[in-house]
Amino acid sequence: MSESGPRRRFSAGTTIEDLKEYMGPFAATLGYKFNTDTEFVDEVLESEIAILERDGDVYCPCRMRTGDPKEDLKIVCPCIPFYRDQFAAMDKCWCGLFIRTHVEDGSDLMGVIEEPEPGTLVDVPVARATDIPDGQGRHVRIGRVDIAVFNAGGAFYALSNLCRHAYGPLAEGIVDGHHVMCPWHGWRYDVRDGSTDHPDADVKTYPVVVRDGEVLVRIALGRR
Ligand code: SF4
Ligand code: FES
Repeated sequence: MSESGPRRRFSAGTTIEDLKEYMGPFAATLGYKFNTDTEFVDEVLESEIAILERDGDVYCPCRMRTGDPKEDLKIVCPCIPFYRDQFAAMDKCWCGLFIRTHVEDGSDLMGVIEEPEPGTLVDVPVARATDIPDGQGRHVRIGRVDIAVFNAGGAFYALSNLCRHAYGPLAEGIVDGHHVMCPWHGWRYDVRDGSTDHPDADVKTYPVVVRDGEVLVRIALGRR
């Protein structure tokens, strides 16, 4: 955070307005502003306050902490200085709390498009491989998209977190081989292709790559 001098530390009792007051001008010096979707901004900042009260700092709700305080500084919001190249390519930060100042409608950037144009695919780091043990899942959010990432036999898979029956959270399901069973009423999905026995109820999958011990979900960022 050298660009703005020493970083301000927040304590319990911090409000959304406090965060906005500090982060807005700081992001502006880097060429970013809060997303124009104010409801989304409040949602993300509320999560950051919950994280602050639990973990002692405003860590990003969409990134995993490593446990190494120095490394984790890179995901204290706003983390723009650490990821300038990636964010410049997307016109926004990972989750879209901040968008580049020239973007008029930030909600345009929050979609995931079905047929990506060349150059719109982005590998978004969501976890360290060691954070998701074999046979377990983890819920992550990229923008407004809820994704369940699974480790099945040492290979990683990503699919929509929302069960097509009644939107149960698949990341909390039971993994058995290459299948995950929804924790709510037991629908089963194949984590490799999102397929299920229930008609017209397959869930979307996303390619996953593991690089340097990080799990990255490949999504196409685009306009809705
Ligand atoms: S990705 Fe966005 S919300 Fe997350 S820490 Fe960075 S600036 Fe904050
Ligand atoms: S919500 Fe998943 S089985 Fe009912």
